[in-house]
Amino acid sequence: MANNTNLGAAKAAKNDEFYTQYADIQKEVNAYLEYNPDTFRDKTVLLPCDDPEWSNFTRFFAQNFERLGLKRLISTSFAVESKKYKDYEPTLFETGSPWFDADKTRIKGKIFELTRDTNGSGRIDIDDLEWHYLEGDGDFRSPEVCALRDQSDIIVTNPPFSLFREFMLWLIKSKKQFLIIGNQNAITYREFFPLVKSDLCWLGVTGFGSDMVFGVPDGVEVDIKDKLKAEKMGYVGNFTRLGNSCWFTNIDHGRRHTPLSLMTMKDNIRYGKHKELKENGYRKYSNYDALDIPAIDAIPSDYDGIMGVPLTFLDKYCPEQFEIIWRTGDIDWAEKECYFFTPPAAADAERYKKQDRTWRVQNPYFINQNGIPETCYFRILIRKKQ
Ligand SMILES: C[S@@+](CC[C@H](N)C(=O)[O-])C[C@H]1O[C@@H](n2cnc3c(N)ncnc32)[C@H](O)[C@@H]1O
Repeated sequence: MANNTNLGAAKAAKNDEFYTQYADIQKEVNAYLEYNPDTFRDKTVLLPCDDPEWSNFTRFFAQNFERLGLKRLISTSFAVESKKYKDYEPTLFETGSPWFDADKTRIKGKIFELTRDTNGSGRIDIDDLEWHYLEGDGDFRSPEVCALRDQSDIIVTNPPFSLFREFMLWLIKSKKQFLIIGNQNAITYREFFPLVKSDLCWLGVTGFGSDMVFGVPDGVEVDIKDKLKAEKMGYVGNFTRLGNSCWFTNIDHGRRHTPLSLMTMKDNIRYGKHKELKENGYRKYSNYDALDIPAIDAIPSDYDGIMGVPLTFLDKYCPEQFEIIWRTGDIDWAEKECYFFTPPAAADAERYKKQDRTWRVQNPYFINQNGIPETCYFRILIRKKQ
């Protein structure tokens, strides 16, 4: 990629142009294979929102085509004129190809396919990729790419961050298996959370709290702290760490079937490390009929009712051990659908708002001994499976 001095444009584009590291893809995919060596066997894998000339997704799946036992690999890329980040020059791969077309190179998407040994090397690998221009610009929402989605078995990508919600809807509609990268907060989106609740989507093996490092194009401004962290991890140059990134999937892996080892309520209060539990014991919210659990390691083994836990619980969630019932955050949702939500009387709500300007009726809270609300902000509501 050529140098780009237009930092303003680069900044606007930066949320969509983060390139995944080969090692991160390898680590994630290998974990599914450990659990089930046939996860990808005889499958068609689609990599939308990709660009084989830059992307490690295509590189990884093409290089491992035979090991994974793939039937077909399809990778599509988005036309440079349709991207927000337009600093692009065609690679030698494209210009040196008999299919290169100077009129199409900037406005058409491309499709790369791998199905067979085209060069007679005796193996199917990246050198056997065949490509052509798409009719349109390669937008994942275009009829062409939707048709490819419908032909595929597994969709794998790091979608553009600015279109994450739309991408999720596109994915859900397909009812296909998927393995995608996103921001951990996405799991609470209205489009997404019902899937998590129904155990139709979960965190991948690289869950919360993993420091994923991404490549960025020239000129893109990144947070200096994240850049320095990436450097510390050995990535020097056009790289940045994105602390809240993780993988989401509906493909099974072993880590999610490992139950948490838990203590009883009594032992948590006596031996646990959480000061608020030692001082107040476990407390029930005023507006949700549920017990607050301030940390994952304080989830008691002997409570059968509903418990409110921090979002990080999802990283440890074992569907055989717990069911997910709700998430806090939306008042209209809570009022309509949450049977254990009871808002305070209007006069109390007015008073709480005056006492604490950040107080919101939909956030779980307690009233302390001084009559002041103490808010827990966000919680996932869970219950132990019998
Ligand atoms: C976060 S990057 C990830 C790139 C690559 N998959 C990787 O991880 O290395 C998302 C890519 O999607 C492209 N993109 C943006 N909008 C798109 C759209 N509507 N359809 C398809 N791709 C899009 C961006 O230009 C960018 O290259």
